[in-house]
Amino acid sequence: MRWIRNGVRLGLAAACLGMLAAGAPAVAQGPISFICSAQEDYCQALVNAYEKSSGAKVAMVRKSTGEAFAQIKAEAASPKTDLWWGGTGDPHLQAALEGITEPYKSPELPKLHDWAQKQAERSQFRTVGVYAGALGIVYNPDQLKKTGAKEIKCWADLLDPKLKDEVQVADPNSSGTAYTMLATLVQIMGEDKGFDYMKALHKNISQYTKSGGAPVKAAALGEATAGIVFMSDALIMILQKAPVKSVAPCEGTGFEVGSMSLVKGARNMEAAKKFYDWLLAPQAQAIGIQVKSYQVPANKAVSLPAEIAPLVDAKMIDYDFAKYGAPAERTRLLARWDREVKSAPK
Ligand code: G6P
Repeated sequence: MRWIRNGVRLGLAAACLGMLAAGAPAVAQGPISFICSAQEDYCQALVNAYEKSSGAKVAMVRKSTGEAFAQIKAEAASPKTDLWWGGTGDPHLQAALEGITEPYKSPELPKLHDWAQKQAERSQFRTVGVYAGALGIVYNPDQLKKTGAKEIKCWADLLDPKLKDEVQVADPNSSGTAYTMLATLVQIMGEDKGFDYMKALHKNISQYTKSGGAPVKAAALGEATAGIVFMSDALIMILQKAPVKSVAPCEGTGFEVGSMSLVKGARNMEAAKKFYDWLLAPQAQAIGIQVKSYQVPANKAVSLPAEIAPLVDAKMIDYDFAKYGAPAERTRLLARWDREVKSAPK
């Protein structure tokens, strides 16, 4: 993932006239309504730091990326959310291309890595990259030994019949992590072979979780032998000395450009834009690493700790974000997954 490194005020009367001409503006109502789709403690740390430095109030809820997209879409006629931060880029891009998020060019944009700016460009500036991270496999070596399956190095190793009911991944409808897996496998293997792989893997899946990070905890607790997750989520547990290892699959892997979007028609648009700018600036961008959430920050001024190096050196595919974040494609692939994978016999 080397790409990641280089990686007048108007008088009152005039204002009122303007408002009449443009139709009634959205009225600010209370705290900034914030959906956060990253790790909950990372989300909370961002909110705490912003409330302290700005005096603003933020009402945060953590939702998986697919769920957050579905909520913002359902509320589009009468938005209740102001700002959506984090989670994988594809649902943010779908929201952008469906026109339910607001174009905005932050003054911080030129200070971001190319991959973060490209996410903004392909969405006509309705979303922007805030972090990046590679997809991988987490496993519990003690559990693995008990199953008799061989060491996991590749996607193919997860199909071992000895791993029946021993693997977890989230549901790609709710989880951006799992959609990243789906799109990654389709890009590595071709669509039909990728679906054949997911159908075969289905036999070994014990549970499709709602949130993408849940399989890491299951593997750490020995409730699952292996899981498909972002390697940054596995690293959190590894550094806490949980009994898990992570691997970047030998066939190559995909990655996320975690993103941020302002909701079109947000009631607290001006306050949300200030929060947006703050979230892209170095001080906020460094908070992930401070709370040991090891995605690669989008702002070039934030230096990477040594722990991230192995994640950055994984064999990465040239993930086609424009294609897999396109509304028709994401919707079609999810429907195919529901039809052919989730309901396949075990
Ligand atoms: C975790 C990761 C994030 C990722 C998010 C997606 O929180 O740390 O890097 O963006 O999962 O969550 P989801 O539940 O949508 O898979």
